[in-house]
Amino acid sequence: MKKKILTGDRPTGKLHLGHYIGSLQNRVKLQSVYDQYILVADLQALTDHFDHPAQVTQNIIEVTKDYLSVGIDPNQTTIVVQSQIPEIAALTIYYLNLVTLGQLHRNPTVKYEIQQKGYDEAIPAGFFCYPVSQAADITLFQAELVPVGDDQLPMIEQTNAIVRRFNRLYHTNVLKECQAVLSKTSRLVGIDGQSKSSKSLGNAIAISDPPEVIKQKVFQMYTDPNHIKASDPGRVEGNVVFAYLDAFHNDQEVVADLKAHYRRGGLGDVVLKNILNDSLQLLLAPIREKRNNLDAKVIKEILHQGTEKAAHLAKETMKMVRDAIGIQSF
Ligand code: TRP
Repeated sequence: MKKKILTGDRPTGKLHLGHYIGSLQNRVKLQSVYDQYILVADLQALTDHFDHPAQVTQNIIEVTKDYLSVGIDPNQTTIVVQSQIPEIAALTIYYLNLVTLGQLHRNPTVKYEIQQKGYDEAIPAGFFCYPVSQAADITLFQAELVPVGDDQLPMIEQTNAIVRRFNRLYHTNVLKECQAVLSKTSRLVGIDGQSKSSKSLGNAIAISDPPEVIKQKVFQMYTDPNHIKASDPGRVEGNVVFAYLDAFHNDQEVVADLKAHYRRGGLGDVVLKNILNDSLQLLLAPIREKRNNLDAKVIKEILHQGTEKAAHLAKETMKMVRDAIGIQSF
């Protein structure tokens, strides 16, 4: 039997190049080797978008289109809508007993998000606890491998801590620890150079952005503020254009030459940005074309079938969990 793999995305917007390089490319490779599940995490999206449920629902379709357009094959990968699997919520409730507020407070990704979102003293409890619900996602589908960006490592740690606690407490081994699968570039900087590429910060290039938007975003990219004239020597470190060339140019020898030229001076930002724009357009044109040919009815059918298949597995795991705890039906 193939090992199970699970990843997920919050459908809060279209997926971007950070997702592509950090996770989607990996998923396309892994789907033929493993039994892969992808969770469209609409429940998790609601933890910080509870005031925009319609946006979340619409984005389930958009995110699924992103998956299919980059090469996720619904015959190899089971795509699941999180809110349609009630066992996830039930399992989360059991797990909440095994986690302390201290652990949740220490989660660096959640800490960062709380700061970004300005929640401060009014942190929604659902949001604060989403790492626990993510542990339910992962274990409900008995996933052994989880391909994610490095910001998700604290969630994997939290999951494994719950698994160990559960198994020890209930003298069982029904839950299995999981392992993260990181890609080469697991964190892509935003076009502003400030932080990671994120749809909520508006500093990302979406996989489905039209050609002119891609170009516009490339030309907004932060480079080296001291590189004023083309003849000036420029800095490559911290230069967003080079971060993207490293991630997306298909000839890294060319990128090495560009870096040397930029460092010694004589290579202007406009020329450099045009080179990046060309390679991104080349990468994204076939993906966009595939996306434009996807039919909404087909998407819904794929989601329906994937969720139905996942529901069987969810029931199976839930029975094992309830038996392990000793919860009876009356
Ligand atoms: N937290 C992930 C993100 O923000 C999304 C997610 C939800 C996920 N459930 C998951 C990732 C399970 C991996 C496994 O991108």
